Amino acid sequence: MRGKRVVVLTGAGISAESGVRTFRDNDGLWEDHRVEDVATPRAWASSPDVVWRFYQARRRQLREVEPNPAHHALVKLEEGLVDFLLVTQNVDDLHERAGSGDVLHMHGELSVMRCEISGRIEHRMEAADLKESYLACRCCVEPSRMRPHIVWFGEMPFGMTRIYEAVETCDVFVVVGSSGHVYPAAGLVDVARSAGATTVLVNLERPENADRFDEVHLGPAGELLPRLVTTWLDG
Ligand code: APR
Repeated sequence: MRGKRVVVLTGAGISAESGVRTFRDNDGLWEDHRVEDVATPRAWASSPDVVWRFYQARRRQLREVEPNPAHHALVKLEEGLVDFLLVTQNVDDLHERAGSGDVLHMHGELSVMRCEISGRIEHRMEAADLKESYLACRCCVEPSRMRPHIVWFGEMPFGMTRIYEAVETCDVFVVVGSSGHVYPAAGLVDVARSAGATTVLVNLERPENADRFDEVHLGPAGELLPRLVTTWLDG
């Protein structure tokens, strides 16, 4: 892969071995909640307390988990390549904590909060920021409520212009730990294929969209990815 333009897209599967639960292997429930009850603008408008408690629990969980060998392998890959973009659907901060330099969080980030009035974002992970009470912004004259900086169902993912530009011009597109159910992320493999890139999947099980990849490596990412990265950088 050296000298090639590489885009990696990660999903919940890469954080599974760190102890963060994935979305689609629990009967459609995410940490015992239906996604429509906690991950939609409608839920925030109608039951903000439920949504807030849910995200504060997810945010506190960040302090209990650590990056795993798959996150570390992607740092090594980034260090070995000149043209590399890491896009993640994950809202955890495990790529950053492993040492990845430039992470594009297309579905937002748990560690960041957004003022509902001004839209200004702030990293808020101090102990006082993780309590049950709502967080107030520091930007408005009359401090307003903040919401999680998360892309809920029905909202536009972040960074799509940069993502499409990178995928349309890459030589290799790698997906790690994603079931390929949620668009537009799930459609990026087709964009890469149309652009003539080699497409590679690393996933625990064979997902529905597996036939759109030139190479499929099945198994736990924490075991497979360190070996694959060594091969990719040597080859
Ligand atoms: N190693 C590799 N893959 C794994 C591992 C592992 N250790 N454990 C689980 N997987 C695979 C599962 O087999 C599954 O195919 O990871 C995939 C996770 O799929 P999803 O739970 O659907 O996660 P993801 O594709 O990231 O979901 C996309 O959906 O709910 C939304 O916004 C949320 O970003 C999320 C999006």
